[in-house]
Amino acid sequence: SDDELHARIRAAKETLGSRLVILGHFYQRDEVVQYADFVGDSFQLANAALTRPEAETIVFCGVHFMAETADILARPEQRVILPNLAAGCSMADMADEDSVETAWEQLMAAYADEHLTDADGREIASVVPVTYMNSSAALKAFCGRHGGIVCTSSNAATVLEWAFERGQRVLFFPDQHLGRNTAKAMGIPLEQMPMVNARKPGLGLSSEELAQARVLLWPGFCSVHKRFTVAQIDKARADHPGCKVIVHPESPMPVVDAADAAGSTDAIKKFVAASSPGDVIAIGTEINMVNRLAAQYPDRTIFCLDPVICPCSTMYRIHPGYLAWTLDGLVEGEVRNEIVVDDATAADAKVALERMLAALP
Ligand code: 13P
Ligand code: SF4
Repeated sequence: SDDELHARIRAAKETLGSRLVILGHFYQRDEVVQYADFVGDSFQLANAALTRPEAETIVFCGVHFMAETADILARPEQRVILPNLAAGCSMADMADEDSVETAWEQLMAAYADEHLTDADGREIASVVPVTYMNSSAALKAFCGRHGGIVCTSSNAATVLEWAFERGQRVLFFPDQHLGRNTAKAMGIPLEQMPMVNARKPGLGLSSEELAQARVLLWPGFCSVHKRFTVAQIDKARADHPGCKVIVHPESPMPVVDAADAAGSTDAIKKFVAASSPGDVIAIGTEINMVNRLAAQYPDRTIFCLDPVICPCSTMYRIHPGYLAWTLDGLVEGEVRNEIVVDDATAADAKVALERMLAALP
């Protein structure tokens, strides 16, 4: 029964004490979030893994790439557990290492004759690879090896500035929307942000498109955030004149343009916290997070832009039953569902992650 399941989780937490830290992403359901020692966005959770060196086990209630990142940043003695190994991210799966390698080779061939320098005469690269945190450890490692960097939705503009100090253009993967929205906000024209097709010769781009490109976008997207539309924003404003609209930057560009603000899950949380009683706020992000904010601020009207319930189906795979099963294992001395990034991949990926941390103010 549910009661028995929750009693098992509480008992295991009690037994394991400070040897265990449970991290929960904002999109996790409340039955899971209630057990998290830290709840946050993907950037905060990556840092949270670092702030509990005494914990020998990090149980990551999030998705696979987040657990991998925790394993890369954690001390070697710490282990990371993902309660359900099927909790992946469909967007992260849209960029595999082979396709990115193929695209990279094509770009290196296309720009082989370029010899670029910055305003101070220093040599710069033709392309700097930038991967969104929502990607496999192998792709973070690829960026580490090729002078690239990782970004999250909370720091994408700062990271792109870092990349433009070191290169003429950026290959941004896997999320086309975060790449486009961020570059557009930096003033880069849309015609300088072509989308690449790794399967086509020349990436499906003409030589003029390749020459003028500043941000080469990978065609990935988030199946939750691509559902948000301008029509939903228009309806929210018509139904609630004066309402405020905030969306996650994984949403399509016209949606971000029509909203009052766009930001990471933590930025959305702060936007709501800074609002006033009586305000009406329409949010374009995952439903568990929106419902939690609505419950936390009952004196405001807070709702999801999409009238059809839109959970992240893979985040939802972290059921309390899996949490209980992995914690029971730890109590019995059995490690279940450990996420291990091999040493070579972890070392290269860490380079790209540390570049991100160093680039931040
Ligand atoms: P945040 O970095 O904003 O937490 O987003 C992660 C994510 O997967 C959004 O879909
Ligand atoms: Fe991936 Fe989208 Fe789920 Fe975020 S909401 S974890 S990007 S599928």
